[in-house]
Amino acid sequence: MTKDIYIGEILVNQEIQEDCFLMKVKVASSFENPLPGQFVMIRIAGLNDPFLSRPISIYSFSRGKNDCSIELLYRVVGKGTQILAGLIEGSQVEINGPLGNGFEIKSVKKNIVFISGGIGIAPLSLLIESLRRRADCSSSEMIIYQGFQSASAVIGLNKMQKLCRDINVCTDDGTFGEKGLVTQIFQKDRKNFAPENTIIYACGPKEMLKSLAKILKKSKFSCQVSLEERMACGTGACLGCVVAVKDKNGALAYKRVCADGPVFNLADIIWE
Ligand SMILES: Cc1cc2nc3c(=O)[nH]c(=O)nc-3n(C[C@H](O)[C@H](O)[C@H](O)COP(=O)(O)OP(=O)(O)OC[C@H]3O[C@@H](n4cnc5c(N)ncnc54)[C@H](O)[C@@H]3O)c2cc1C
Ligand code: FES
Repeated sequence: MTKDIYIGEILVNQEIQEDCFLMKVKVASSFENPLPGQFVMIRIAGLNDPFLSRPISIYSFSRGKNDCSIELLYRVVGKGTQILAGLIEGSQVEINGPLGNGFEIKSVKKNIVFISGGIGIAPLSLLIESLRRRADCSSSEMIIYQGFQSASAVIGLNKMQKLCRDINVCTDDGTFGEKGLVTQIFQKDRKNFAPENTIIYACGPKEMLKSLAKILKKSKFSCQVSLEERMACGTGACLGCVVAVKDKNGALAYKRVCADGPVFNLADIIWE
């Protein structure tokens, strides 16, 4: 699924936490309104290296009179994100998107629980913002569990404090918030949520999502997760991002994270 490629102008590209950047890009007003959970493939404009395009979730989006502004929150982990981090205001980037399916908001529940690990807060943030804007969500309780490796990796708290009723932060090493893994902290509270009144949205490293799958196995909780598989083309062509899932009949199927996802029902994912 290819979308038009937009040339965006970087308005801000600021290191807001160690190795974690917030980039604001101006694009033409024809850019579609993204669904929460959708992402863009981004690379430096004019760089003839298709392998240097990287998938980054849309963290925030706003539409002005003459253009749109996309915010991306990214962590520097390797070559592609290092190049992005070096870009200054006024630099141009190529943006393909919005891509992927996004989170599905089936029916609004009493408890809306978000579980994020590290930079997994990025797609959940746009989801929380859009749910907050919906009139039918005003009586829902938004509860977030945010896990990070340590205090120096904590991001996005101020924003969450404005949007969620209950914020639970933890770090692996106990240097900020509760000590422990985010899935352990959620597990302790799980009994407070009735599955029929609760929807869970999660994003984070594979091991975190695998643990969540174990915790929720055999329960009736509805849980959607956004996967962050490695991607090459990002548009469904190379099959480099396939994951094994159960289809509607429970049979094994392979889905492309970039085109069929990145959001899946947690219970459908087959972990190896
Ligand atoms: C749909 C989607 C949305 C994403 N949204 C965001 C976001 O909002 N913010 C953000 O910071 N990152 C996000 N990512 C992850 C991001 O795309 C990767 O971190 C980035 O592509 C790494 O590129 P690189 O060239 O810097 O690192 P590379 O040189 O390619 O890799 C460096 C190291 O990072 C590891 N790595 C690379 N890609 C991934 C990955 N996808 N998951 C786990 N480890 C990886 C490699 O194994 C290696 O150890 C998203 C990924 C997907 C698929
Ligand atoms: S990255 Fe090429 S098919 Fe998904």
